[in-house]
Amino acid sequence: AVSRLPLIAGNWKMNLDHLQAVAFVQKLHWTLKDAKHEEDSVEVAVFPPFTDIRTVQTLLDADKIAFALGGQDLSTKDSGAYTGEISGAFLKQLDCRYVIIGHSERREYHAETDEVVAAKVEAALRHGLAPVICVGETAEDLEKHGAAAVPVAQLEVALDGVASDADVVVAYEPVWAIGSGQAATPQQAQDVCAKLREVVAAKLGAEAAERTRILYGGSVKSGNIAGFMREPDVDGALVGGASLVTDEFAAIIRYQK
Ligand code: G3P
Repeated sequence: AVSRLPLIAGNWKMNLDHLQAVAFVQKLHWTLKDAKHEEDSVEVAVFPPFTDIRTVQTLLDADKIAFALGGQDLSTKDSGAYTGEISGAFLKQLDCRYVIIGHSERREYHAETDEVVAAKVEAALRHGLAPVICVGETAEDLEKHGAAAVPVAQLEVALDGVASDADVVVAYEPVWAIGSGQAATPQQAQDVCAKLREVVAAKLGAEAAERTRILYGGSVKSGNIAGFMREPDVDGALVGGASLVTDEFAAIIRYQK
Protein backbone atom coordinates (compact mmCIF):
# COMPACT_ATOMS: atom_id res chain seq x y z
CA ALA A 1 0.00 0.00 0.00
CA VAL A 2 3.04 2.26 0.48
CA SER A 3 3.20 3.67 -3.03
CA ARG A 4 -0.56 4.08 -3.45
CA LEU A 5 -2.44 7.14 -2.13
CA PRO A 6 -4.91 5.85 0.48
CA LEU A 7 -8.56 6.53 -0.33
CA ILE A 8 -11.14 6.93 2.43
CA ALA A 9 -14.57 7.01 0.84
CA GLY A 10 -17.91 7.76 2.49
CA ASN A 11 -20.92 6.05 0.91
CA TRP A 12 -23.88 7.96 2.33
CA LYS A 13 -26.40 5.56 0.77
CA MET A 14 -29.93 7.05 1.06
CA ASN A 15 -29.07 9.43 3.90
CA LEU A 16 -28.69 13.22 4.27
CA ASP A 17 -30.84 15.51 2.11
CA HIS A 18 -29.18 18.44 0.35
CA LEU A 19 -29.48 20.75 3.37
CA GLN A 20 -28.09 18.17 5.78
CA ALA A 21 -25.34 17.49 3.25
CA VAL A 22 -24.12 21.09 3.37
CA ALA A 23 -24.01 21.12 7.16
CA PHE A 24 -22.23 17.76 7.21
CA VAL A 25 -19.55 18.61 4.64
CA GLN A 26 -18.81 21.96 6.30
CA LYS A 27 -18.52 20.35 9.73
CA LEU A 28 -16.26 17.59 8.41
CA HIS A 29 -14.05 20.11 6.66
CA TRP A 30 -13.64 22.22 9.81
CA THR A 31 -13.10 19.19 12.03
CA LEU A 32 -10.22 18.10 9.79
CA LYS A 33 -8.83 21.65 9.62
CA ASP A 34 -8.93 21.99 13.42
CA ALA A 35 -7.05 18.70 13.67
CA LYS A 36 -4.50 20.06 11.17
CA HIS A 37 -5.12 17.12 8.87
CA GLU A 38 -2.73 17.09 5.92
CA GLU A 39 -4.82 16.97 2.78
CA ASP A 40 -2.27 15.19 0.65
CA SER A 41 -1.70 12.26 3.04
CA VAL A 42 -4.99 10.61 2.10
CA GLU A 43 -7.69 11.20 -0.50
CA VAL A 44 -11.17 11.75 0.92
CA ALA A 45 -14.24 11.08 -1.23
CA VAL A 46 -17.94 11.47 -0.50
CA PHE A 47 -20.77 9.72 -2.34
CA PRO A 48 -24.01 11.62 -1.69
CA PRO A 49 -27.46 10.80 -3.09
CA PHE A 50 -27.91 12.18 -6.64
CA THR A 51 -30.14 15.03 -5.46
CA ASP A 52 -27.32 16.37 -3.22
CA ILE A 53 -24.49 16.27 -5.73
CA ARG A 54 -24.96 19.71 -7.28
CA THR A 55 -25.22 21.35 -3.85
CA VAL A 56 -22.16 19.54 -2.52
CA GLN A 57 -20.20 20.35 -5.68
CA THR A 58 -20.97 24.07 -5.31
CA LEU A 59 -19.87 23.99 -1.68
CA LEU A 60 -16.59 22.12 -2.37
CA ASP A 61 -15.85 24.56 -5.16
CA ALA A 62 -16.74 27.75 -3.24
CA ASP A 63 -14.87 26.81 -0.06
CA LYS A 64 -11.95 25.10 -1.83
CA ILE A 65 -12.59 21.86 0.03
CA ALA A 66 -10.41 19.05 -1.31
CA PHE A 67 -12.88 16.16 -1.07
CA ALA A 68 -13.48 14.14 -4.21
CA LEU A 69 -17.09 13.63 -5.22
CA GLY A 70 -18.80 10.54 -6.60
CA GLY A 71 -22.19 9.09 -7.52
CA GLN A 72 -23.58 5.92 -5.93
CA ASP A 73 -24.62 4.42 -9.28
CA LEU A 74 -25.04 5.33 -12.95
CA SER A 75 -26.88 4.16 -16.05
CA THR A 76 -25.34 1.82 -18.59
CA LYS A 77 -26.73 4.25 -21.22
CA ASP A 78 -25.54 7.77 -22.06
CA SER A 79 -28.92 9.49 -22.60
CA GLY A 80 -32.45 8.87 -23.87
CA ALA A 81 -35.77 7.40 -22.83
CA TYR A 82 -34.67 5.74 -19.57
CA THR A 83 -36.94 7.19 -16.89
CA GLY A 84 -35.26 7.54 -13.53
CA GLU A 85 -31.75 6.81 -14.78
CA ILE A 86 -28.67 9.02 -14.37
CA SER A 87 -26.03 9.30 -17.08
CA GLY A 88 -22.32 9.22 -16.35
CA ALA A 89 -22.11 12.38 -18.46
CA PHE A 90 -24.26 14.23 -15.89
CA LEU A 91 -22.03 13.07 -13.03
CA LYS A 92 -18.92 14.12 -14.89
CA GLN A 93 -20.39 17.58 -15.53
CA LEU A 94 -20.81 17.99 -11.77
CA ASP A 95 -17.09 17.25 -11.21
CA CYS A 96 -17.62 13.72 -9.97
CA ARG A 97 -14.35 11.81 -10.04
CA TYR A 98 -15.79 8.45 -8.99
CA VAL A 99 -18.90 6.33 -9.22
CA ILE A 100 -19.74 3.31 -7.06
CA ILE A 101 -20.73 0.31 -9.17
CA GLY A 102 -22.17 -3.04 -8.14
CA HIS A 103 -22.70 -2.30 -4.47
CA SER A 104 -24.23 -5.39 -2.83
CA GLU A 105 -27.41 -3.38 -2.13
CA ARG A 106 -27.78 -2.73 -5.88
CA ARG A 107 -27.06 -6.38 -6.63
CA GLU A 108 -29.61 -7.52 -4.05
CA TYR A 109 -32.47 -5.00 -4.35
CA HIS A 110 -32.11 -4.11 -8.02
CA ALA A 111 -31.04 -7.51 -9.32
CA GLU A 112 -27.82 -6.16 -10.82
CA THR A 113 -25.94 -9.01 -12.41
CA ASP A 114 -22.20 -9.19 -13.06
CA GLU A 115 -22.97 -8.33 -16.70
CA VAL A 116 -24.87 -5.17 -15.73
CA VAL A 117 -21.98 -4.25 -13.46
CA ALA A 118 -19.54 -4.73 -16.35
CA ALA A 119 -21.68 -2.51 -18.61
CA LYS A 120 -21.73 0.17 -15.91
CA VAL A 121 -17.95 -0.01 -15.52
CA GLU A 122 -17.68 0.56 -19.25
CA ALA A 123 -20.12 3.49 -19.06
CA ALA A 124 -18.18 5.09 -16.20
CA LEU A 125 -14.87 4.85 -18.06
CA ARG A 126 -16.49 6.19 -21.24
CA HIS A 127 -17.35 9.37 -19.31
CA GLY A 128 -14.00 9.75 -17.54
CA LEU A 129 -15.24 8.56 -14.16
CA ALA A 130 -13.25 6.08 -12.10
CA PRO A 131 -15.51 3.17 -11.17
CA VAL A 132 -15.37 1.95 -7.58
CA ILE A 133 -16.21 -1.67 -8.31
CA CYS A 134 -17.79 -3.40 -5.32
CA VAL A 135 -17.43 -7.14 -4.86
CA GLY A 136 -18.02 -9.42 -1.91
CA GLU A 137 -19.42 -12.70 -0.69
CA THR A 138 -22.57 -13.32 1.35
CA ALA A 139 -22.47 -15.37 4.56
CA GLU A 140 -23.83 -18.30 2.56
CA ASP A 141 -21.13 -17.91 -0.12
CA LEU A 142 -18.53 -17.80 2.62
CA GLU A 143 -19.75 -21.05 4.08
CA LYS A 144 -20.04 -22.80 0.73
CA HIS A 145 -17.05 -21.49 -1.22
CA GLY A 146 -14.76 -19.67 1.24
CA ALA A 147 -14.16 -15.91 1.17
CA ALA A 148 -12.40 -15.22 -2.12
CA ALA A 149 -14.22 -17.29 -4.79
CA VAL A 150 -17.25 -15.04 -5.28
CA PRO A 151 -15.47 -11.64 -5.18
CA VAL A 152 -12.77 -12.97 -7.53
CA ALA A 153 -15.39 -14.21 -10.02
CA GLN A 154 -17.33 -10.91 -9.77
CA LEU A 155 -14.22 -8.85 -10.42
CA GLU A 156 -13.17 -10.99 -13.39
CA VAL A 157 -16.45 -10.19 -15.14
CA ALA A 158 -16.41 -6.51 -14.12
CA LEU A 159 -12.96 -6.01 -15.66
CA ASP A 160 -13.80 -7.74 -18.94
CA GLY A 161 -12.74 -5.52 -21.80
CA VAL A 162 -11.30 -2.80 -19.56
CA ALA A 163 -8.13 -1.15 -20.93
CA SER A 164 -4.89 -1.70 -19.04
CA ASP A 165 -4.43 2.03 -18.40
CA ALA A 166 -7.95 2.52 -16.99
CA ASP A 167 -8.34 4.22 -13.63
CA VAL A 168 -10.38 1.84 -11.51
CA VAL A 169 -10.82 1.28 -7.78
CA VAL A 170 -11.89 -2.04 -6.29
CA ALA A 171 -13.85 -2.30 -3.03
CA TYR A 172 -13.97 -5.62 -1.22
CA GLU A 173 -17.14 -5.57 0.86
CA PRO A 174 -18.08 -8.90 2.43
CA VAL A 175 -21.89 -8.69 2.53
CA TRP A 176 -22.01 -10.24 6.01
CA ALA A 177 -19.87 -7.37 7.33
CA ILE A 178 -21.96 -4.52 5.90
CA GLY A 179 -23.91 -2.66 8.56
CA SER A 180 -23.59 -5.65 10.90
CA GLY A 181 -21.01 -4.26 13.30
CA GLN A 182 -19.04 -7.43 12.56
CA ALA A 183 -16.12 -6.35 10.37
CA ALA A 184 -13.77 -8.81 8.72
CA THR A 185 -10.43 -9.15 10.46
CA PRO A 186 -7.52 -7.28 8.84
CA GLN A 187 -6.06 -10.67 7.87
CA GLN A 188 -9.32 -11.78 6.20
CA ALA A 189 -9.45 -8.48 4.28
CA GLN A 190 -5.80 -8.78 3.29
CA ASP A 191 -6.21 -12.36 2.02
CA VAL A 192 -9.08 -11.43 -0.32
CA CYS A 193 -7.61 -8.07 -1.38
CA ALA A 194 -4.36 -9.85 -2.37
CA LYS A 195 -6.38 -12.25 -4.54
CA LEU A 196 -8.28 -9.34 -6.09
CA ARG A 197 -4.96 -7.70 -6.93
CA GLU A 198 -3.99 -10.90 -8.74
CA VAL A 199 -7.20 -10.57 -10.78
CA VAL A 200 -6.28 -6.98 -11.69
CA ALA A 201 -2.81 -8.24 -12.72
CA ALA A 202 -4.26 -11.03 -14.85
CA LYS A 203 -6.83 -8.78 -16.54
CA LEU A 204 -5.04 -5.41 -16.78
CA GLY A 205 -1.37 -6.24 -16.29
CA ALA A 206 1.27 -5.86 -13.60
CA GLU A 207 1.52 -2.08 -13.77
CA ALA A 208 -2.23 -1.67 -13.26
CA ALA A 209 -2.15 -4.11 -10.34
CA GLU A 210 0.61 -2.09 -8.70
CA ARG A 211 -1.22 1.23 -8.97
CA THR A 212 -4.88 0.17 -8.50
CA ARG A 213 -6.32 0.90 -5.09
CA ILE A 214 -8.23 -1.86 -3.36
CA LEU A 215 -10.46 -0.80 -0.47
CA TYR A 216 -12.04 -2.75 2.34
CA GLY A 217 -15.64 -2.01 3.34
CA GLY A 218 -17.95 -3.43 5.99
CA SER A 219 -18.38 -2.03 9.53
CA VAL A 220 -15.26 0.15 9.29
CA LYS A 221 -14.97 2.41 12.34
CA SER A 222 -12.35 4.68 13.89
CA GLY A 223 -11.44 1.80 16.20
CA ASN A 224 -10.58 -0.74 13.48
CA ILE A 225 -9.38 1.33 10.49
CA ALA A 226 -5.68 1.32 11.46
CA GLY A 227 -5.58 -2.47 11.47
CA PHE A 228 -6.90 -2.63 7.90
CA MET A 229 -4.56 0.10 6.70
CA ARG A 230 -1.52 -1.79 8.01
CA GLU A 231 -2.20 -4.58 5.50
CA PRO A 232 -0.12 -4.37 2.32
CA ASP A 233 -3.01 -4.90 -0.12
CA VAL A 234 -5.61 -2.72 1.61
CA ASP A 235 -5.38 0.83 0.25
CA GLY A 236 -8.31 2.46 1.95
CA ALA A 237 -11.89 2.00 3.07
CA LEU A 238 -15.41 2.33 1.75
CA VAL A 239 -17.37 3.44 4.80
CA GLY A 240 -21.15 3.43 5.22
CA GLY A 241 -22.69 4.16 8.63
CA ALA A 242 -19.57 5.70 10.18
CA SER A 243 -19.19 8.10 7.23
CA LEU A 244 -22.35 9.91 8.42
CA VAL A 245 -20.93 10.83 11.83
CA THR A 246 -18.53 13.76 11.53
CA ASP A 247 -16.14 12.91 14.36
CA GLU A 248 -16.09 9.22 13.46
CA PHE A 249 -15.42 9.83 9.78
CA ALA A 250 -12.78 12.46 10.58
CA ALA A 251 -11.07 9.98 12.92
CA ILE A 252 -11.15 7.31 10.18
CA ILE A 253 -9.56 9.77 7.74
CA ARG A 254 -6.88 10.53 10.34
CA TYR A 255 -6.20 6.82 11.01
CA GLN A 256 -2.43 7.35 11.13
CA LYS A 257 -2.64 9.72 14.10
O1 G3P B 1 -20.40 0.93 0.89
C1 G3P B 1 -20.10 0.92 2.24
C2 G3P B 1 -20.89 -0.05 3.01
O2 G3P B 1 -21.62 -0.98 2.33
C3 G3P B 1 -20.37 -0.47 4.32
O3 G3P B 1 -21.35 -0.07 5.19
O4 G3P B 1 -22.26 0.72 7.30
O5 G3P B 1 -20.93 -1.39 7.22
O6 G3P B 1 -19.78 0.78 6.93
P1 G3P B 1 -21.07 0.00 6.77
